[in-house]
Amino acid sequence: MTSDSGGRRLRSRDWFDNPDRMDMTALYLERFMNYGITPEELRSGKPIIGIAQSGSDLSPCNRIHIELAKRTRDGIRDAGGIPIEFPVHPIFENCRRPTAALDRNLLYLGLVELLNGYPLDGVVLTTGCDKTTPSQIMAASTVDIPAIVLSGGPMLDGWHEGELVGSGTVIWRSRRKLAAGEIDEEEFLARATDSAPSAGHCNSMGTASTMNAVAEALGLSLTGCAAIPAPYRERGQMAYRTGQRIVEMVHADLKPSDILTREAFLNAIAVVSACGGSSNAQPHIQAMAAHAGVELPLSAWQDHGYELPLLLNMQPAGKYLGERFHRAGGVPAIMWELLQAGRLYGDCPTCTGKTIADNLGGRESGDREMIRPFADPLMDNAGFLVLSGNLFDFAILKTSVISDDFRAQYLSHPGAENVFEARAIVFDGSDDYHHRINDPALQIDEDCILVIRGSGVIGWPGSAEVVNMQPPDAMIQQGKQWLPTLGDGRQSGTSDSPSILNVSPESAAGGGLAWLRTGDRIQVDLNHRTCNALVDNAEIARRLADEPPPPIPPSNTPWEELFREKTGQLGEGGVMEFSLKYRGTARKLPRH
Ligand code: FES
Ligand code: MG
Repeated sequence: MTSDSGGRRLRSRDWFDNPDRMDMTALYLERFMNYGITPEELRSGKPIIGIAQSGSDLSPCNRIHIELAKRTRDGIRDAGGIPIEFPVHPIFENCRRPTAALDRNLLYLGLVELLNGYPLDGVVLTTGCDKTTPSQIMAASTVDIPAIVLSGGPMLDGWHEGELVGSGTVIWRSRRKLAAGEIDEEEFLARATDSAPSAGHCNSMGTASTMNAVAEALGLSLTGCAAIPAPYRERGQMAYRTGQRIVEMVHADLKPSDILTREAFLNAIAVVSACGGSSNAQPHIQAMAAHAGVELPLSAWQDHGYELPLLLNMQPAGKYLGERFHRAGGVPAIMWELLQAGRLYGDCPTCTGKTIADNLGGRESGDREMIRPFADPLMDNAGFLVLSGNLFDFAILKTSVISDDFRAQYLSHPGAENVFEARAIVFDGSDDYHHRINDPALQIDEDCILVIRGSGVIGWPGSAEVVNMQPPDAMIQQGKQWLPTLGDGRQSGTSDSPSILNVSPESAAGGGLAWLRTGDRIQVDLNHRTCNALVDNAEIARRLADEPPPPIPPSNTPWEELFREKTGQLGEGGVMEFSLKYRGTARKLPRH
């Protein structure tokens, strides 16, 4: 039988092949026999491969993995490994209160303990719904055993009365139609259900599709994995090949630390930008880089992404959905465009054992309506802008979703293009927004910017997708779809709102939004990347001294309290700083 890889003793042997402590070895072995793994096999030196199962009834977006794991097991077995499947903390973006953002770091902590504490030589990370991808990659980086990402894939395209309806995007668009009186609630619900026709994660380029594209761009999934729709035959084949490949990776000792370089993260930013990907990629990429020990300055979002064009015609920035993306070539076809244009680092190593450039050979798209050539994109300069000023040190703006009418209204003033000023309407969290947005006393008009605070890591807690606030119903009824928005929370990756997001520090951490008042004027200058309240320093000091800070709701659970204590701001990725020092845990085996 295969013994240890290249003379290297696999870590699982410390459990199952320990002549000095036969009593311990016997204890470790016995229960695995109950489902057919023999002691001889466990002691033979075959790699033991974990399948981190993220699918469950509570994680419907990832539920396909319950089926896919069977194919993954076959692949692992056929390549000479032993599969061991185990659950990870479930995450369901849409359903989890007060927000699934609390769960990314919780899944991370749990998975680190599993990978460190059990006899696993490598792991298949089963990803899908938004935070299930970054959390598992963060954990694999901390432990640093060979790891490969298998995404579950998006749902089939949603159709409603001949129109493509994309996950999430249809909700935000239908909300505006509902407010305008164009549809009723029954029609609203019909559009929502039609957008979700099958197993899989969100079928638009929301956070799920974005993060799985990121995993592939980082070199952590097999080429072409991310975009295959969940129910497609190819998805099962990908599961099988992923199972085979992780066994080879263990033999080659190919670890996250060999793959996750600075260049790999810059490639990920480029792919997010060219895809019109989710603004949630910012904290997640920042967090994965931190756990990989890679220094990624916040300016990288702008310096390596802003000037890239929008190549992918997928909702919310474009028209189509995931099935067409896959048929058009998926993530490799986007990366191929970037590589040809010299905007991708081609020599990054990947889980295939080859470089990015090797993986991408011949991956040019044949569907130019869906994936545009670099020289003829859907939009120029479509990446992210990083803003700062007296209200915050960091915020991000996704430019690929700034519509033409928004640009014409706010960003096209002759002599001061890309600069606008607006009167702030400040809300303390989303309940306050919903209670007051239609209050005529606020006198909200086109000169306003809607601001939400108390929606960050500490304030919510967790940081909520609430910044994509829509204007008052009366304005929508008059045809006004957008107002600029600003906030210390996030926005859904499926939203097409032009928002200033992820403000750090948040109001609850002493950020400038805490002293902002309704009626203050805010100036946004996209040329100089600034956002300032036009309030003088003496007045700011007076407010800080005389007025109480905005209220923060109490924690409801032990984890909420601990999360608030340990988690950093969104700009820095919302990581638990203390955990970063444990990178490379697997190099030191846990004691018997
Ligand atoms: Fe789970 Fe979108 S809600 S993938
Ligand atoms: Mg989301």
